[in-house]
Amino acid sequence: MGSSDGRVIVITGANRGIGFCLARKLIADAASESASSALEKPPQLTLCLCCRNLQAARAAAESLRSLAAAAFNSASSGRNLTSDSSWCRIDLCKLDTSDFDSVRDCTQWLLNRYKRIDMLYLNAGILLVSRVDWFYLIRNFISREAWSMLTTGLGVLVQADFDCQDGRRGVFKTNVGGHFLLTMGLLHPPDGAPSPLGRHSATGQASRVVWTSSCNASRRHFKLSDPECRHSMAPYAAGKHAIDLLCLHLNSRYQPAGVQFCPVDPGLVVTNLAEGIVPLWFWYLAWPLLCLLRLLVTSYNLTAENGVHALAQVAHPGERLRPDCKYFSRTGLLGRPYMGVEPISGSQDESEMLYQSLLDYAELRDRVS
Ligand SMILES: NC(=O)c1ccc[n+]([C@@H]2O[C@H](COP(=O)([O-])OP(=O)(O)OC[C@H]3O[C@@H](n4cnc5c(N)ncnc54)[C@H](OP(=O)(O)O)[C@@H]3O)[C@@H](O)[C@H]2O)c1
Repeated sequence: MGSSDGRVIVITGANRGIGFCLARKLIADAASESASSALEKPPQLTLCLCCRNLQAARAAAESLRSLAAAAFNSASSGRNLTSDSSWCRIDLCKLDTSDFDSVRDCTQWLLNRYKRIDMLYLNAGILLVSRVDWFYLIRNFISREAWSMLTTGLGVLVQADFDCQDGRRGVFKTNVGGHFLLTMGLLHPPDGAPSPLGRHSATGQASRVVWTSSCNASRRHFKLSDPECRHSMAPYAAGKHAIDLLCLHLNSRYQPAGVQFCPVDPGLVVTNLAEGIVPLWFWYLAWPLLCLLRLLVTSYNLTAENGVHALAQVAHPGERLRPDCKYFSRTGLLGRPYMGVEPISGSQDESEMLYQSLLDYAELRDRVS
């Protein structure tokens, strides 16, 4: 495998929710860009879906192939150029980010398969909510806490966690640890082999590693002395902050080698993850109110299509990414999505300390100097 793959994009947790919708959007964007440039066929695109459930991944791949077959034709407004999907190859690889053996196998598979990876989306994630504190919500609706509560859900969502077989905490391992191991494995292949992440030899374009963060990310709940959040009950919020923070150091370390890291918050999106907070019927009942609240809280994207807006936009080679910033998908009152940018909260020193502790956590110290 190599240059015939064209642009290669790897997405973890792509069989449903935001990851799946992102894959759809990337295919649709590639088709419509080529159609507007009057090309006969879009340039080759390879999407690799890394999922823990291969049966669900196969179903997602089938649906993406059908989309690719139709997308270019519809984008070229009936010029009937091609209805074949061969321009877009969908590969599947098994990956359970909460199992380091699975992560190592997936890393090796990707190293064997691709000479180059243009975009790596670290998207798989879990949020475990033991209950919603309705009393907190009502009590703080008219208080100084209201803004933080409405924009992050902090205080209202009582988060839960579990122990993995190896004793590591499950939420951190799934959302942060497994992805860190995967990325470092790709950046430092065994026996000094070249990394698929780096500057493109022909175009000079850097590889981009886009990490799905959250509006729930909380510096207040994160402690360098306890990144896994063993001693506080906000493992999701702390882990998502760890992602933002880590990108600062990873950028200063790997940007010179042509790898850019970028945390992106998809905002509130009604997916399986949101269904773990309250049932779907409740989201649909509250939908009009949440749309109205967009006047104040633009992170209420609600649909996955709006939630993936920034995730897809940072894939555009022309989009210049700032190494110290976090990107956001946001939706205006009239329902139009747009991308926001804010500096990452935290210092380079904190970021480097977290990076160093993660090298030990993921047993990478010998491999990465
Ligand atoms: N929805 C929101 O409002 C929201 C807001 C902010 C950030 N996010 C972030 O967006 C990302 C995607 O979430 P979503 O809303 O699309 O949730 P989702 O519908 O539950 O999808 C999560 C995806 O991650 C996969 N996954 C979970 N644990 C995994 C593991 N151990 N190994 C490999 N894959 C795993 C799931 O696979 P299975 O199908 O096998 O479970 C699924 O494909 C997450 O990182 C989440 O934290 C979501």
